[in-house]
Amino acid sequence: MERLLCAEHCTKRLECTIWQQIETTNGPHCSVMGHTPPQNEKQMIERCQCPTHSHTYSQAPEIASSIGRTTDYAFEMAVSNIRYGAGVTKEVGMDLQNMGARNVCVMTDENLSQLPPVETVLDSLTKNGINFKVYNNVRVEPTDASFMEAIEFAKNGAFDAYVAVGGGSSIDTCKASNLYASSPDSDFLDYVNAPIGKGKPVTVPLKPLIAIPTTAGTGSETTGVAIFDYEHLKVKTGIASRAIKPTLGIIDPLHTLHMPARVVANSGFDVLCHALESYTALPYHMRSPCPSNPINRPAYQGSNPISDVWAIHALRIVAKYLKRAVRSPDDFKARSNMHLASAFAGIGFGNAGVHLCHGMSYPISGLVKTYKAKDYNVDHSLVPHGLSVVLTSPAVFTFTAQMYPERHLQAAEILGADIRTARIKDAGLILADTLRKFLFDLNVDDGLAAIGYSKADIPALVKGTLPQERVTKLAPRPQSEEELSALFEASMKLY
Ligand SMILES: NC(=O)c1ccc[n+]([C@@H]2O[C@H](COP(=O)([O-])OP(=O)(O)OC[C@H]3O[C@@H](n4cnc5c(N)ncnc54)[C@H](O)[C@@H]3O)[C@@H](O)[C@H]2O)c1
Ligand SMILES: [Zn+2]
Repeated sequence: MERLLCAEHCTKRLECTIWQQIETTNGPHCSVMGHTPPQNEKQMIERCQCPTHSHTYSQAPEIASSIGRTTDYAFEMAVSNIRYGAGVTKEVGMDLQNMGARNVCVMTDENLSQLPPVETVLDSLTKNGINFKVYNNVRVEPTDASFMEAIEFAKNGAFDAYVAVGGGSSIDTCKASNLYASSPDSDFLDYVNAPIGKGKPVTVPLKPLIAIPTTAGTGSETTGVAIFDYEHLKVKTGIASRAIKPTLGIIDPLHTLHMPARVVANSGFDVLCHALESYTALPYHMRSPCPSNPINRPAYQGSNPISDVWAIHALRIVAKYLKRAVRSPDDFKARSNMHLASAFAGIGFGNAGVHLCHGMSYPISGLVKTYKAKDYNVDHSLVPHGLSVVLTSPAVFTFTAQMYPERHLQAAEILGADIRTARIKDAGLILADTLRKFLFDLNVDDGLAAIGYSKADIPALVKGTLPQERVTKLAPRPQSEEELSALFEASMKLY
């Protein structure tokens, strides 16, 4: 006979049919401890950890001892200091002076090095008498080779502070440069996420890093994450450690006025997916293993009550302002709100993590063939990060909604769906339809087929997703290879 486990002992997050079964049989519901069954529906819902009732964990879960646990019992919020304001970039020279910096490295990409955001930074450094060198060779969507080149520059420069000006590509390259220049004897793979790298904890002291984001965006100014394309495997991976998060993020919304429309759209989709994925991720107290030392608690810990607040707030802003920000280059209100939303979502996902859209996006970017992204002023093929995550989102959330359907339905409502007569079991389909409409309205390519993939590529896309355990394990539902194949197939065409 199949053993029935109560919510307290269930490690598989039973679905509520089990509870219905318990009700009808009215027998002892837990064969492990002989727990008494819940006496009424209210008690049942309170004690139930099944997906349907899981929203109750948004309150703090009951106190649990760490001894003998396989899943974690704690989460930690780490975030950079943030300064926000129109024109606030002009303060960066004073910040460096206040830090006593004498030899500063400014990192950016070539395109931005000719635009006002970088000009404003260099002007402020000059006015405040700061010595600096500019590295403007950041690769848009960095690779291990482009990281290494920047790291070499950082090592040779013996800098005592760093300033990153740009989107996620520039900020992430700068984080990696600071890390490896501060740990010169390390091999590159030492700090790269396992299983691709060794995933060693960072114990060396790093130099101060000020991040000035120009997209809205990755939220990289708030996170301890640096992403790159590992060319040898043709997949993206990264370095994730609280130690590499910037000392200060200077968010100056004036910079967003220079972004071309597709950069606004794609970086906005990144904010959308950061919010949706972190809000629907496996809760932190269901993530295993439980670290025996807090230094081993990962940056991406699973959804938690604090990240939830940031994720939902970011989603509301995306719903209200992203379309306006894309369509009207001079809509300062929309663009500046999106700039804030990217930091909000960054605070959320930087601690909760992301899951399947991101896990599946890494081979979508890594295996790019000839796709050229409109508005990206680069000479190589690339699938912009935000586009690579959002194209699978309708399929992914249809798949994950079985767990935490309330959260999926709530997200659909925020994004504009009328859910007054919606059935909870349709939550995934409703969110997927809402996302499709949102993407269609913003002229997004019609699925993976439109960016150069076909059915024949699915095995390689699945193979590239499998090593992304750091994020795919945070999906609320585990996925088999067949299920991943089906998700890629369902994402070939959207409309
Ligand atoms: N570290 C993290 O937490 C994190 C999170 C998500 C994504 N990422 C990574 O970040 C990278 C993507 O970053 P991104 O989407 O911010 O874009 P990006 O840095 O790749 O820049 C995209 C393009 O937009 C241009 N651009 C940026 N800001 C501009 C502005 N204000 N005006 C005119 N042009 C501008 C750049 O020159 C570039 O050509 C990817 O490698 C992705 O994997 C990192
Ligand atoms: Zn992202």
